Amino acid sequence: MGEPKKVILTCAQPTGVLTMGNYLGAVKNWASMLGSYQCFFGVVDQHAITTKYVPANLRKNTLSCVAQYIACGLDPKQANLFIQSHVTGHTELAWLLSCLTPIGELQRMTQFKEKVAQLGFKASDNEDVTSELKFSHSGSRAQSSINAGLLMYPVLMAADILLYNADAVPVGSDQRQHLELCRDLAQRFNHTYSDTFTIPEPFIPKSGARIMSLQEPASKMSKSDANQSATLYILDDPDVLRKKIMSAVTDSGSEIKVSEDKPGVSNLLQIHSLLSGTSMTELELHFTGQGYGALKQEVADVVVAAMEPVQARYSELIKDKGYLESVLKDGADAAQQRAYKMLSKVYRKAGFVERPR
Ligand code: AMP
Ligand code: TRP
Repeated sequence: MGEPKKVILTCAQPTGVLTMGNYLGAVKNWASMLGSYQCFFGVVDQHAITTKYVPANLRKNTLSCVAQYIACGLDPKQANLFIQSHVTGHTELAWLLSCLTPIGELQRMTQFKEKVAQLGFKASDNEDVTSELKFSHSGSRAQSSINAGLLMYPVLMAADILLYNADAVPVGSDQRQHLELCRDLAQRFNHTYSDTFTIPEPFIPKSGARIMSLQEPASKMSKSDANQSATLYILDDPDVLRKKIMSAVTDSGSEIKVSEDKPGVSNLLQIHSLLSGTSMTELELHFTGQGYGALKQEVADVVVAAMEPVQARYSELIKDKGYLESVLKDGADAAQQRAYKMLSKVYRKAGFVERPR
């Protein structure tokens, strides 16, 4: 018998339909790790309530995300797929970790500051960790007050990871700072009590597949883009996918090659390459002497062909509530078993009296 498999854990918010960026930059990579690691994939509904939301949509999006992940290749036989709120322990561990976290560290988180700014507030840049939260209200743009959950978001994320004593966490580079906090908290806990947590490694993809907007290829393809023709969704109808790709912004000149001054063409080549498995160099050779129209046409064919089985599988899954529930039950059971062991250990070390049986 070899070494036990290392544990990887990653989570995502149930934000609706995945984009081609989510698929190529995240989910496809997770799927490629299935055989080599013990995998836990969580849909974090408790994180999703830190900003304004509609309960019925949260419920719908959470199930839809699970179905999309399975359709994209996260095989539930090889991975534990679970919903965060189904496992007791995430919020409990977050509470404990929050008592090891100075408020100032949370106030300095980039994502927190960005979200606060989106709400129409200005966060003070006060570096004093003992200072009070100071926010100046910039008037009519403010939609609601800043809740403590938004500030606590990274602590809950640290709990998601440490509850499974994960060895590694695949995330996009935007989550690097949160993962750093998680590692600090694990070290702080180990130091304050005794050695308990493995310090989790970030798994940030080397190739850095970053899929760019079809309309403004200098910025990332994103769900929240005001111009929806810039974003490919994995569940877009084939006609819609084609239309968006055919109207993608290309660059001056006519040569089809990967280059910094050709962000539009490079992005299309990248999407083709990741989906077809053809290297960018081979693609450049293949398109020699052809125009942008031919490139777009072929990228559209490749995207539509790659999404066809994903979409077919998704429509089966979303109708099969019984199957989704059985996947979620198995996932939650496996996650809960591991989480319970870890939480009991942590509670003992923290000085909580064990519950008599
Ligand atoms: P988000 O939807 O922004 O929460 O991202 C979920 C995951 O998808 C993260 O791992 C991101 O890094 C990844 N991701 C989102 N958009 C893109 C993109 N345009 N290109 C590559 N990866 C992306
Ligand atoms: N904050 C992550 C994001 O927005 C989602 C997340 C929550 C997460 N808990 C996690 C990612 C634990 C990895 C591990 O993408």
